[in-house]
Amino acid sequence: MYTEPWNIHIADEFTTPAFRHAAKVWVPKKPLVIVPSRMIDASAPVYGYGEVQEGDNDLLSRPDGVPMGEQIIVHGRVTDSWGRPASGMLIELWQANAAGKYVHAHDRTPKPIDPYFTGTGRTLTGADGEYTFRTIKPGAYPWTQHREAWRAQHLHLSLSGRGLSERLVTQMLFPGDPLIDRDPIVTTIPDEKARERLISRLDWEAAIDQIAIAYRFDIVLGGMNATPVEH
Ligand SMILES: [Fe+2]
Repeated sequence: MYTEPWNIHIADEFTTPAFRHAAKVWVPKKPLVIVPSRMIDASAPVYGYGEVQEGDNDLLSRPDGVPMGEQIIVHGRVTDSWGRPASGMLIELWQANAAGKYVHAHDRTPKPIDPYFTGTGRTLTGADGEYTFRTIKPGAYPWTQHREAWRAQHLHLSLSGRGLSERLVTQMLFPGDPLIDRDPIVTTIPDEKARERLISRLDWEAAIDQIAIAYRFDIVLGGMNATPVEH
């Protein structure tokens, strides 16, 4: 048995150096406080109350320049647990740039900000539940627990709309990424099949010839084959 200063007893099999380091980082050392709801809600881009505009799903369509990185198409279909298309859903996307850097004050990693890339977009699903984004493939970035903890390349997606009592947030991964099996967030999902449902697949049909590879990421809202969401 291993005992840390905050008197939590941890079984021996969990007392690897990486685990002890993570526990020191994440276990609260001060009394919990009530966080204003506006701060909780701010874990995604804040667009205000304006209507979704044409082009909001195109993260490359700036008049002043083109961001660095590999241009990709991300698209898919949102369905409910019965396989019925979820139309009119608001999907918001946020992501790191090609260097693995977020446009966020909390990202203090020594990587370049891309002046032509905000890393945010949004769209509404169509009548058949389909959605599309044009963006940059994000870079991986380190997760501070230990040396080998890196986030796999990923997109953050939130969904809200009819039939949902609250916004759902999930992440899309890229096939073949060697970091997925080590990702400190993905590996918290115990069900291997559920983890696989976060991985998009290459889709040559939707690719733009000579310009952009496409990835398909279908999202299922609930049921046995539900896409994992964050709680
Ligand atoms: Fe992220």
